[in-house]
Amino acid sequence: MLSKRLQTIYDLVDENSNLADIGADHGFLLIELAKNNKCNLLLGVENKKGPYEKLLNDIRINSLKNKIFTSFSDGLSKITPEYKTIVIAGMGTDNIKKIIKDSISSIDFINTFIIDSHTKIEELRKFVVSLGFKISQEKILKEDNIVYEIIRFDKGSATYSDIQYKFGPCLIKEKTNDFINIYKERLMWLKNKRKNTSNPDFIRSLELDIKEIEAIIYENQCFIKKIK
Ligand SMILES: C[S@@+](CC[C@H](N)C(=O)[O-])C[C@H]1O[C@@H](n2cnc3c(N)ncnc32)[C@H](O)[C@@H]1O
Repeated sequence: MLSKRLQTIYDLVDENSNLADIGADHGFLLIELAKNNKCNLLLGVENKKGPYEKLLNDIRINSLKNKIFTSFSDGLSKITPEYKTIVIAGMGTDNIKKIIKDSISSIDFINTFIIDSHTKIEELRKFVVSLGFKISQEKILKEDNIVYEIIRFDKGSATYSDIQYKFGPCLIKEKTNDFINIYKERLMWLKNKRKNTSNPDFIRSLELDIKEIEAIIYENQCFIKKIK
């Protein structure tokens, strides 16, 4: 069974797509996709020997050698044009940006990125959108006390406000229970910090964060317009 995070990524994958998982590591996602015949083509890419060998072994143990291709290579460097869907999960935004920038011409044939970055999500949204993609689906979840935001970008153009880049256009629109609960917890944390600090600049920045989150979760449209 996949973890909640990997299951969320799995659910964002289109049936019959040709998918490459960059940094496939253990291969859990690819193995589940292959077992359920969800994709036409599957490719696992790893650039480190240990994880690559683990990937080969896991594919062999599951008798999926005829369903999952593998590549010991860096990022998108060996991705061929039939792979229109790219998953990059469990890395930071700096590394994800580097992987994409290092093979920038491959975005001509890539239609979809499904990305789970654990840092600088706002920067990631702006970067991928600047390459000619729009944010078509987003999920936020908490697992083992870690918050994950998983974003599906599809080729296309869209404009977003600063608030949408920060909190996620789909997440703000959908306001799922997970989204509300995660930001209510964040509010409690920020309010607690504000109580225990005396630095006026820090207090001001905390208060802005608090107002921003309250405006979003309690739908204070006037405030959202003011901070856009
Ligand atoms: C933390 S693991 C995440 C594994 C899996 N994608 C997941 O989300 O559970 C990150 C993996 O990405 C691989 N990786 C990092 N940079 C890479 C690159 N430029 N090309 C290929 N693999 C990379 C690492 O070797 C590591 O196995």
